[in-house]
Amino acid sequence: MRIRTRAALVAVATVVACALGASAAAAYTLPPGNGQFDYQIGGAYNPLGTVRVASRDRLENPVDARGRAVYDVCYVNTFQTQPDEIAWWRANHPELLLRNASGEYVGDPAWGEILLDTRTAAKRTALEGIMAGWFGECAGKGFDAIEPDNLDTWTRSEGLITKANNVAMMRLLTAAAHAADLAIAQKNVSPELGSQGPTIGFDFSIVESCQVYSECGPVLTNYGSRVYEIEYTTSAFNAACRARGATISVILRDRYVTPDTDPDYVYDYC
Ligand SMILES: *[C@@H]1O[C@H](CO)[C@@H](O)[C@H](O)[C@H]1NC(C)=O
Repeated sequence: MRIRTRAALVAVATVVACALGASAAAAYTLPPGNGQFDYQIGGAYNPLGTVRVASRDRLENPVDARGRAVYDVCYVNTFQTQPDEIAWWRANHPELLLRNASGEYVGDPAWGEILLDTRTAAKRTALEGIMAGWFGECAGKGFDAIEPDNLDTWTRSEGLITKANNVAMMRLLTAAAHAADLAIAQKNVSPELGSQGPTIGFDFSIVESCQVYSECGPVLTNYGSRVYEIEYTTSAFNAACRARGATISVILRDRYVTPDTDPDYVYDYC
């Protein structure tokens, strides 16, 4: 069933792009181009009244209902465990956690996360089933879109995962989002995917630190004004604002994207 849906949705996505949702079949909407963004994945808070696009963790609620002032994006860690979910994964789906030849989990030590194993079609299908359930919960709460994170795990998998493995997983995820009436963002991987993103099914982009790494080009070409950029240093933010602030939403956040009650909280926009 999901395979059929995926094939059909390539056409739907094209309709959305061409006719801005005029088709009755296009049940998901795209974010407002250059709409002021806020990134709240480290904790939700009331955004400024001028914010038009916000991303929050899937366990949070959206800012408002669908079709209202704020376009709500639901953050889902689709290629790694969240640190506080490791016990759940070990208890319920240990076979979907990536292990190396010594049997050790392969992870992202800096963030306390374990990579999910996308190496076989069977595992990808199992992962998609879990993620589709989470996407459905996002849709049920009123989110408009999905931000799937850590698409690039093949680059730090000790050589175990290939880019092709993850692209195959991305195709399942974009289809699952669209089937749940949600748009889906290409998160980062701007140079890695190049022009591939839209053909995989991504609708817009959320990109971190592309100023720092000089890699904003491919997503800007692919998604135009529907690129939402987060920079984490004032110098990168200022440079990004000068380069692109008139055409896309660029924001400055603190590294841990803390809520506005935190002493480390930083938010600026242009
Ligand atoms: C597996 O990972 C552990 C922990 O990072 C490491 O010490 C070990 O050398 C790895 N084994 C292989 C075969 O790569």
